[in-house]
Amino acid sequence: MDHGILALTVFLLFCLLLESHIRLPFWLAWVGKWHPMVLHFPIVLLLLMVLLGLTNQRMAPVLVQFTVLATLVTAISGFFLAVGNGEKGDLLFWHQYGGSLLALLAGLWYVLFQYGLHQKGYAKGVLAVIMVLTFTTGHFGASITHGEDFLALPRNPEKKELPENPKIYAHVVHPILETNCIPCHNPNKKKGGLLMTSLEGLLKGGEKGNTLVPGNVEESELLRRLHLPKTDEEHMPPDGKKPLEASEIAILERWIALGALDTLTLAQLGPEEPLTNLVKALMAPQESEQWKELPLVADSTLQRLASDYLTIQRLANHSNALTITAFSPPIYDPSPITALQAIAQNVVALDLSNLPLGAQEIDFVAQCTPLQRLDLDGTPITSATLGKLAHLEELQFLRLHGTSLDDGALSHLAQFKNLKKLYVWNTGIKQSALREFKEKNAGIEIEDGIQDSLESFFRKSDTLGLKQNGAP
Ligand code: HEC
Repeated sequence: MDHGILALTVFLLFCLLLESHIRLPFWLAWVGKWHPMVLHFPIVLLLLMVLLGLTNQRMAPVLVQFTVLATLVTAISGFFLAVGNGEKGDLLFWHQYGGSLLALLAGLWYVLFQYGLHQKGYAKGVLAVIMVLTFTTGHFGASITHGEDFLALPRNPEKKELPENPKIYAHVVHPILETNCIPCHNPNKKKGGLLMTSLEGLLKGGEKGNTLVPGNVEESELLRRLHLPKTDEEHMPPDGKKPLEASEIAILERWIALGALDTLTLAQLGPEEPLTNLVKALMAPQESEQWKELPLVADSTLQRLASDYLTIQRLANHSNALTITAFSPPIYDPSPITALQAIAQNVVALDLSNLPLGAQEIDFVAQCTPLQRLDLDGTPITSATLGKLAHLEELQFLRLHGTSLDDGALSHLAQFKNLKKLYVWNTGIKQSALREFKEKNAGIEIEDGIQDSLESFFRKSDTLGLKQNGAP
């Protein structure tokens, strides 16, 4: 057991230290789905350990071992759960580091316990910290699942809508840099000597100096790096990070071409200027236009339907558009999912991956008419049941990795009117049939092979000796 504890501790430290450098493949997120279940064990065990420890009670070593193991497993599964969840809010940040620290402190206390030092004052101090951390980390976690109203805690401000006449630098360019570049180019982490938090920093440039040359697209190192092939060492953001969208690169490029001014506003741009349309596309209030007509849905309804295994989120603060993610509970029960019928008309994104879905759940999905994203990876969906969903006209992204769909699925898939991206690797669909489908449906981008991110993970994981279990 001690070996297990040591190995997991090392692995957790590895996750902590290298988090910003590695990107785990999305299927590991499945391991993360157990996080909401396992987390209950360490909470109880840790508090029990604190109580017994502080009152000088005798404790069986196995209890301490279990506690440390459960805390480690929970912290690590939490890391996997966070994979692919994009930008980290303050809550997740504190929750993650609180949980990791908790696991490390529990391990430290175990060491003290083994050396018979656990009744010393400092060992009790560690226990007190463990107790406080258990409560705070648990609360942060609960606020993540149950939403910000659960506890009024500091949080990243919601994405602000653009003002009527946005300033190009402050309202458009800076937010792009903030999300994609500033995590590594800020006063704390000044990679390449480059500070991107302000226009002055950009103009001053990094070690090479010519980061941004106003009015000169060719000379600007920043653009050169964005245009490099994604596999190039010098491409920014570096390997493993989400590259910028073509439209984002175009925005930066036009802004630099026009002199990289911080005073430039949308109103000053002519209708011919490509930047005008690029910025207007950002402003198109997706929300109000697209989902204005959705029925009202009350917070109380969402609270009633949500659970540890079912996250329901509004797309924006007061939006009636909902995104739902279901996690696999230890004992699967379709009723929490079928109960969502009450809000089917509000669901725009739904993740039911890796659940043993039956006909009832598919019937529910079929009712989600505004659905744009649907994730059915690793579910027992068949070609025939897929046909029941073909009327979902808004559906744009459909994930079907790791299902037993066969060629028969393709005729149903062709019926989705607005499908833009389809993920079908590791299914029973034959390559030849897929090729034919691709030719006939040029509008659909098909993801049917091992992704770059996955490959690079394997390359990295080889050196770690990680098993490639579950790999497609
Ligand atoms: C994960 C961290 C990370 C992110 C995110 C990141 N960078 Fe970098 N950046 C680096 C590192 C490390 C270097 C130094 C090594 C090198 O020059 O390639 C660097 C160097 C640079 C340089 C060269 C500076 C000089 O003069 O030497 C530019 C320009 C740059 N980054 C632009 C960007 C842009 C634009 C983005 C966002 C699209 C971005 N970076 C996102 C890590 C990052």
